[in-house]
Amino acid sequence: MAGIDKLNGALVAMLLWAPAANAGERLWADCRTCHAVTAPDGTVLARGGRSGPDLYGISGRAAAADGSFAFYSPAMRAAAATGLHWSEDNFVAYLANPDQFLRAVTGDPQASAEMHVQMVQGGRDIYAYLRSLSQ
Ligand code: HEC
Repeated sequence: MAGIDKLNGALVAMLLWAPAANAGERLWADCRTCHAVTAPDGTVLARGGRSGPDLYGISGRAAAADGSFAFYSPAMRAAAATGLHWSEDNFVAYLANPDQFLRAVTGDPQASAEMHVQMVQGGRDIYAYLRSLSQ
């Protein structure tokens, strides 16, 4: 029975996620200029530009962890050095104001993100979308 309960749980989670993921897919239009989502085997899950890091597996991923992206800001690297991982709340706070988020994480009032984009609403939907791609 425990197995079936688990299955039901997974199904409920999928049903709850689906609408958010759909909304997130639409909002992805604001991100793909600079970001793609590529699986480790090279499969492109979401096409996008290369001026930002690849966002595959971003939910739970350590900050500044795309080894093929050479242009992380010193502020993002400093944030990563504190052990920052991308939870849903961190992701949403970062999108709402990248500079302010990195200042709070690093404690450096001069910290400045290399990403000059803000998204105050819809961050949770995009997170759900990216999470659905990386499963
Ligand atoms: C104009 C280009 C551009 C756009 C548009 C953009 N980003 Fe970024 N993004 C970047 C760059 C550059 C970085 C690296 C920031 C740094 O190092 O300070 C980044 C970093 C990130 C990171 C941290 C990744 C890591 O490896 O730690 C996340 C998460 C992220 N962006 C999400 C988004 C989302 C979601 C959107 C759409 C709402 C978006 N970005 C739109 C350029 C962009």
